[in-house]
Amino acid sequence: MISVTLKDQADFGAWKVAARKLLLNKIAPENVNWAAPGGMQSLFEMSAQSIDTLRDITLTNALTVSSSFVSIAERVICHRDPERFARLYRILWRLQTDRQLLKQTTDNDIIWMTDCDKAIRRDRHKMHAFVRFRKVGEGRYKREQFAAWFEPTHFITRLATPFFMRRFPNMDWIIVTPDCTAIWNGQDLTFAPGGTKADVPADDSMEKHWKVYFQSIFNPARLKVGAMMSEMPKKYWHNMPEAADIPKMIETAQARERKMRAAAPAMPHPLAAILKSRTASLENAADIDSLSQARNAIQTCQMCPLHCNASQAVFGEGPAHANLMIVGEQPGDEEDIAGRPFIGPAGKILDEALTAENIDRSSVYVTNAIKHFKFKLRGKRRIHERPNASEIDHCRWWLKTEINFVKPKVIVALGTSAAKAITGKTIKISDCRGDIIDLSKGRKLIVTYHPAFILRSPSPEQQDMAFKALNLDLARAQRLSTSEELSQT
Ligand code: URA
Repeated sequence: MISVTLKDQADFGAWKVAARKLLLNKIAPENVNWAAPGGMQSLFEMSAQSIDTLRDITLTNALTVSSSFVSIAERVICHRDPERFARLYRILWRLQTDRQLLKQTTDNDIIWMTDCDKAIRRDRHKMHAFVRFRKVGEGRYKREQFAAWFEPTHFITRLATPFFMRRFPNMDWIIVTPDCTAIWNGQDLTFAPGGTKADVPADDSMEKHWKVYFQSIFNPARLKVGAMMSEMPKKYWHNMPEAADIPKMIETAQARERKMRAAAPAMPHPLAAILKSRTASLENAADIDSLSQARNAIQTCQMCPLHCNASQAVFGEGPAHANLMIVGEQPGDEEDIAGRPFIGPAGKILDEALTAENIDRSSVYVTNAIKHFKFKLRGKRRIHERPNASEIDHCRWWLKTEINFVKPKVIVALGTSAAKAITGKTIKISDCRGDIIDLSKGRKLIVTYHPAFILRSPSPEQQDMAFKALNLDLARAQRLSTSEELSQT
């Protein structure tokens, strides 16, 4: 009997290395005893020979492992079934002689594996949907820090948390679970031992937002209690602030539905509850007398419908009196979540170009023509949609406000929407790219390619050409903005 003791409950990498060594040494599944931390040591294990005593055989191409088995096994290893290491090894062993095994849907091992896989996918989905972060402070460079406590059914923390890294790249967060803690610092996702609920400091500042959000999406006319309970099982409720309101919402659903029907023609959009908390729009616009007041006021802006679906308005950032201002089109998916311009894929291209030209991004005021993310839903993805002329027109008020306060000497418009917002005219980039255009008050404008255009360019040659042009135009704008001849007005 050979014993294998894994160091982690769900370390697929370590299981894979061990399974490969066992296979190459032709150790049959019934002769292997698998264990992980926290498990009871069996009598077999105590008397067994360790896997470390087996020969290291480095035969390439000696094993048959299909990629679909690998991707399922990577999930199934996270299941709480104590037999999972052994059963997965048995399937792998059988796959060496039966390549069609995965297709045998009546085979007991395959039924077991498929059921475990479903359970893990479901658990991962629940974790993605029900983790509730609490703000716990601010770190270096004013990065906000968040923490969440979550109790998954299986050992899925390593599997499920890369999702949060992609979703919230610009905040520091930790997710504590009983078995494992995931830590994201903006650069690396690392894992530490599990913790307890007490490790996540109490703070209810985010909780009211969850309640408002949940109430606003809760439609009593469409309430199906059974379906709701299956989608949001009760065991998750105690870590979800909004769940405290569910029993009352169910209780009053019928009465609310009747009221809704009676008021149907006048009903506001379901997101009205969120919007209401943003109160009046621009009634007090005339009172805005600083950039920071404008930054606060824009969160109440309802001048066009784009505010309905965006998470927040994304205002510009940079020095209050920058010589150079860069104007993009509108925030994208990541900017909408983080509340900062140009931090997603297009932002990376812009940063690359600025670095290549030795322009310090922190010396530049970076903003967008449109302050709310415009998108259409495709499945769960939010796909960017180009703003129309009226949206550009409505939002111009904010851009003008930024220009009036920042007083840049030179503005770079990235793409046609930015150029239209600044000049009021429809401009073809190829007609004037890189030219110095006079604006009022001695200010200069340079129109150039948008970084997203570079990302979308069909060939590496075209990408290269557009990237070089962007660099050239930024360098030109930077030189102009530091020249003595132009004053900041
Ligand atoms: N594209 C833009 O125009 N602006 C952003 O902030 C991000 C992507």
